Amino acid sequence: MNWPTIPPHPDTPPCGPPVPVDGGWVVTRHADVVAVLTDPRYVVPVAPGGPPGTLAWLRGTVSRFSAPDRHPGRRALGVAALRDLDPDELRAASARLTTPTLDRLATAGRMEVMDRLARRVPVEVLAARLGLADPAAAVPAVTTVAAAYHPGADPAAVALADRAVAALLAMSPPAPAEAAANRIGLLVQAADATAGLIGAAVRHGLAAPAALGTADLLAEVLRLDPPVRATRRVATGATRLAGREIGPDAALLLRFDAANRDPAVHPDPDRFHPGGPDQADRPAGVVRDGHLALARRPVRALTFGAGPRGCPGERHALALATGVVEVLRARCRPARTPVRYAPHPTLHVPTSLEVMFR
Ligand code: HEM
Repeated sequence: MNWPTIPPHPDTPPCGPPVPVDGGWVVTRHADVVAVLTDPRYVVPVAPGGPPGTLAWLRGTVSRFSAPDRHPGRRALGVAALRDLDPDELRAASARLTTPTLDRLATAGRMEVMDRLARRVPVEVLAARLGLADPAAAVPAVTTVAAAYHPGADPAAVALADRAVAALLAMSPPAPAEAAANRIGLLVQAADATAGLIGAAVRHGLAAPAALGTADLLAEVLRLDPPVRATRRVATGATRLAGREIGPDAALLLRFDAANRDPAVHPDPDRFHPGGPDQADRPAGVVRDGHLALARRPVRALTFGAGPRGCPGERHALALATGVVEVLRARCRPARTPVRYAPHPTLHVPTSLEVMFR
């Protein structure tokens, strides 16, 4: 099969050694991103807390923005809640929730996917399994919190998110504050990224041959059009990364979108090629700095992160997205209308995306 190429987003920097930008560093090579994510001398920017039940409280209590001393215990709360969820059951539930929407809208001939399915189904399925009293009402609340979750959100969005956090707490099962916050954190972390994955799979994969498995489709879409394009770390002291001196307190922007196209680990990096870089028709290696770097075993995309803070919801995200995407692949075809994206420093999620019914 002659697979197409998916060119990088115009904002994606080329892959190379760390580059100083605005007093910090932009990191683009696969090995360098992994090195930072697995080195405890680089920490996440910590979010200060706030009054109980507010967005600031949520940010200050979830593992995602916690300092190294608080992180393991808080992460364990989320991991424990996820352990009870069976990915196969999540996939089936996602498909079950998707089908009636398509049945209802089929006569219109076309459908907008992001609001009707991608932003709704994964969160509603997860909210039900995590015990929220009203999973459908949780969806708009989680969406509102997600819009203001990352530090730097505008005050109007934060005010709306404060009310949404209170609503989510009111519909959550009784639990100590840290457990309740980290359960809501799971929903908020899941929302945009999983919606973006569904959007990217629909955009790039709806016309793919039916023989292509949805798991392979999602893996390659995560690599070439990652819904999470980057993450941040701060150096706690003077460090060296790929020969560069990184000063104390330097901010690092780790670009998954660039690292996922690193020719050192992904020969023919722009080619949409489900199955991975060790396929026979890929080149056996690439020449880098005058040396032949041999293609190794397939390297997974960095879109779920790596190291002790890597995404604990990867299997769940894939299962939830698969349920929606499989139904869409069976019943829809691309609409070929322009796809619009919400502006965001690190996420890449369509605001609207249309499909046609077959
Ligand atoms: C396609 C969908 C998803 C993508 C691409 C994604 C990506 C990521 C990444 C890159 C991180 C690490 C950020 C960093 O190290 O700075 C992360 C963390 C996290 N993700 Fe996901 N995620 C997805 C879906 C989900 C889902 C469905 C859940 C929950 C069911 C989830 C829960 C979390 C949590 C709780 C963290 C914080 C972990 C910690 O504090 O150690 N994510 N995710």
